[in-house]
Amino acid sequence: MKIGILISGRGSNMLAIIDAVKSGEIPNSEVVVVISDKPSAPGLEKSRERGVETVVIERKGRSRDEHDAEIISELQKRNVELVCLAGYMRLLSKGFIHAFENRIVNIHPSLLPSFPGLDVQQQAIDHGVKISGCTVHFVNEDLDAGPIILQRAVEVKDDDTAQTLAARILDEEHGAYVEALRRIALGELSTGAKENAR
Ligand code: GRF
Repeated sequence: MKIGILISGRGSNMLAIIDAVKSGEIPNSEVVVVISDKPSAPGLEKSRERGVETVVIERKGRSRDEHDAEIISELQKRNVELVCLAGYMRLLSKGFIHAFENRIVNIHPSLLPSFPGLDVQQQAIDHGVKISGCTVHFVNEDLDAGPIILQRAVEVKDDDTAQTLAARILDEEHGAYVEALRRIALGELSTGAKENAR
């Protein structure tokens, strides 16, 4: 399974995926490219250190469709079969989603469908929820709403700040993303169809 990873920043989930592919925990797979829309993304250097090719494709005032078309072309050139969003901070166009129908996966730091969007750890604290966590899901045209592959729960403590909660959730994210990709690589979940995500 040829994997392409899209990032915009730190890249800790990206690293977890690259390392799990190299160790064989995600079997029969290869991370063929990491693409960032930000030249300053710290994840780029980490990816290069591990010998994975990186490409920067900035938006540069172009439309979302034009920007996405260039990313799609870079992914298709390398025969990418599965696209992993790992802290990629842009919404994908319909064209992108159709080009990789049911073959785009995302990780989100809340228990969806609670708290889609941004600043979700602060929202969880503001709502007083006692359990939060992370969700790995297939990506469809609606924000943070595609079929759920798996979730991991994290307790919200009384003295948590958005930062402390985010750090505990992030620890779970790495294992959750690897487990989800392992299941996909093993053919247990071959598409984003809802019945497969159950
Ligand atoms: C993670 O919390 C992920 O759930 C969210 O963005 C953050 C990315 O972190 N989508 P990293 O770049 O993988 O370290």
